[in-house]
Amino acid sequence: MAIEIIATGKAVPPKRVSNEELTAYVDTTDEWIRSHTGIGNRHIADESVACSDLAAEAAKNALAMAAGYSGNDPQERDRAAAEAAPSIDLIVLGSATPDYYGTPSTACVTQHKIGTVNASAMDISAGCTGFVYGLETAAGLLNISTQRKRALVIGSEVLTKMVNWEDRRTCVLFGDGAGAVVLEKTGAEKRGLQHTIMRADGSGAESLLLRRGGTKEPYKKGETLEIGIHIEMNGQEVYNFAVGAITKVLEDLMKAGNLGVDDIARIVPHQANARIIQAARRRLRMTEEKFYLNIEEYANTSAASIPIALDEMNRAGELKKGDIILTVGFGGGLTFGGNIIIW
Ligand code: UT7
Repeated sequence: MAIEIIATGKAVPPKRVSNEELTAYVDTTDEWIRSHTGIGNRHIADESVACSDLAAEAAKNALAMAAGYSGNDPQERDRAAAEAAPSIDLIVLGSATPDYYGTPSTACVTQHKIGTVNASAMDISAGCTGFVYGLETAAGLLNISTQRKRALVIGSEVLTKMVNWEDRRTCVLFGDGAGAVVLEKTGAEKRGLQHTIMRADGSGAESLLLRRGGTKEPYKKGETLEIGIHIEMNGQEVYNFAVGAITKVLEDLMKAGNLGVDDIARIVPHQANARIIQAARRRLRMTEEKFYLNIEEYANTSAASIPIALDEMNRAGELKKGDIILTVGFGGGLTFGGNIIIW
């Protein structure tokens, strides 16, 4: 028996904003952003778009692929997605920017939007590691029940609504988007999700957070906020943590899977900063080509970055049956982890 990714999908808002365009309202330069992060553009959702809207679009693209349709015709896509929707038993959605805080979960709102009437639905709050955690959670729940056969695992974010556009140290880093995969329990051998590492270090909770609005610091009656609730990050602390976390996760995955560098077809890292990935890559003495990078186009999309990358690679034919793929995520919590997947 195997838990395999049988289909992928993504959704990014059509509005694409380059670094150069950002300089009209943020005190920054294209040169600074590129040289410090590798980011060239980000996609920004309209005011009316919530996390569940992007999640639903990505999920429909994955569902359509599961039903055999990978084209661009919206009506055909919707028809195929509707055909596959009732076969989904479970939705696990990772996000740091849900539709609502607390309840309802964005997974529930998404479930209604995509018509997966037989699916249970829940969110995972594991920052940028949300998709790595989500894959393992969904696989575990498929494994322990004969009633469940298929799951949707989604990473979705609308980070540009939650950044402080007056803080150039954070606002230039993030973008919006969603990615989704359909996981299926199959009879294949030596295929699918093989091993997962999930780690947490809450001592670093305050290095990357949305401080206000929860039960620790709720709004008070009559209070007015000078700026909206927003992401705060101690960039250098998170940078140092991230380089160590990528290195440790990849070393531990290789040990657990008894893998040498040449056994690995591709590594799909969370796209937070190209410099972080390069620093870890040098420590591990791996070649650049091993690491899939699309941060230039999308910036940091947190829990969505790994499934967006998987969908791009899948649709471009870059993932071959039998390829060993490693994912690695790190971020708010602090959390970190990775998966070994045989495609
Ligand atoms: O996805 C979750 C995980 N997140 C991450 O992994 C992010 C981790 N952190 C980072 O990637 C990096 O720390 C940043 C990209 C956020 C910052 O890079 P840095 O090289 O650590 O820059 P810094 O914060 O040390 O700032 C260096 C200088 C400062 O100027 P002074 O004080 O030296 O004069 C900043 O004011 O760069 C300045 N600066 C900027 N200048 C132009 C900071 N942001 C900007 C900006 N444009 N956007």
